[in-house]
Amino acid sequence: MLVVPLIERKRDGGALTPEEWSALVAAYTDGRIPDYQMSALLMAVLLRGLERPELAALTDAMLASGQRISFDSWSTPRVDKHSTGGVGDKVSLVLAPLVAACGVAVPMMSGRGLGHTGGTLDKLEAIPGFRTGLSLAEVRAQVMKIGCAMIGQTPEIAPADRRIYALRDVTGTVEAIPLIAASIMSKKLAEGLNALVLDVKRGSGAFLPTLEQSLELAQTMIALGEDRGCPTVALLTAMDRPLGRACGNALETEEAILALRGEGPQDLMEVTYALGVEMLLAAGVEKTSKKARHRLENALSSGLAAEKFERMIEAQGGNPGVVEDASVLPQAKEVEVYKAPRTGVVVRVEPKVVGRAVVAMGGGRLKVDDPVDPTVGFVITVNPGDKVLTGEPIASVFARDPAGIKLGFEALGQAIVVADKLKEKPLPLVSHRVTKAGVEELTRPDSGRTSRSPR
Ligand code: URA
Repeated sequence: MLVVPLIERKRDGGALTPEEWSALVAAYTDGRIPDYQMSALLMAVLLRGLERPELAALTDAMLASGQRISFDSWSTPRVDKHSTGGVGDKVSLVLAPLVAACGVAVPMMSGRGLGHTGGTLDKLEAIPGFRTGLSLAEVRAQVMKIGCAMIGQTPEIAPADRRIYALRDVTGTVEAIPLIAASIMSKKLAEGLNALVLDVKRGSGAFLPTLEQSLELAQTMIALGEDRGCPTVALLTAMDRPLGRACGNALETEEAILALRGEGPQDLMEVTYALGVEMLLAAGVEKTSKKARHRLENALSSGLAAEKFERMIEAQGGNPGVVEDASVLPQAKEVEVYKAPRTGVVVRVEPKVVGRAVVAMGGGRLKVDDPVDPTVGFVITVNPGDKVLTGEPIASVFARDPAGIKLGFEALGQAIVVADKLKEKPLPLVSHRVTKAGVEELTRPDSGRTSRSPR
């Protein structure tokens, strides 16, 4: 197929036909179009955007590149959640087993690290032996037996996203509404879901930082889902600081395990519960937010959610002992404490700087086939608004060598800003709920915290 005229048309602001998108995606997935041509086309899309029919065609072509998981007449409701990408965002690792422990099946297909953000697959693969490349039959059997599976794209499932996602990661073509929407929805629509919940990040660490862009992304994905028979709802959540304390693959997996054992940081738990509530409501297993929240809290405090995680790890070839003893995770060779440079208030913890530093220290990819070091990263124990004293420990840097520690210290020096007083309020953790019916603002101006009206 002649790709150059298509790249040129897109470059010049024209549109490709649905047939052209379909042929392009199929040819690229089969290896008949080289990465350099696909990269050029993706860059043209990033700069020029896609018209509505083009986005629909791209999503459908990506979806059609693999098979769909079918659960036939299995009556257990199946709901998944997907995040648009953040730093320290280990919600999926907590949420999938937690929601499964509440009787809703979660066949979750995730991604690897993308740009400055971490990926669920890389976090899971920090667990010795854990396999994310399950076959379609394995996913189906595991979900029906245990209630959840966490998998990656394979030649069978969402192969187009597997290739395009990896290419976007290393070609500066991540930050585009149509590309993010098609990537996420093509994976999710292959999962055989009854409903989908989206976690759309907003703030400086999100791919699309402004509220308007986050809302547009949410509405774009909701329309794609609803038009294809998958009821879809989105929550807008804060990514103007990392979520939780740990940033880096094994460190985040450890924090997710702590969360499943009831010792998770408050911000991580709030976002996890908010998304979990939406999943239980969408599944129809609870009728009110309050009841859904109770059910989730009980599943966590009873140990059922942690047990689900253990069973899932075992089923996917990993060492389930990690849930009892996180020291089986790979450990960094070098660890050093980072101290507050002055007395004052933390005014910023810049997620993009932290995320890029994790990648630079070896925890992400600069080229498609780069290996990922699961051990490197940060544990940052302060949030915007916290008071600190000169010399007080506020973070730890985990690296593979002294050069990595140096890099980590430099990044924290840039990312964590301490000043006399807070200038800007941090974003509310969960600020908006978006459905096909419209946008609901969830924040109470007096508290700056989230609230939901009971249903
Ligand atoms: N998550 C995805 O799966 N794809 C994107 O493009 C961004 C976040």
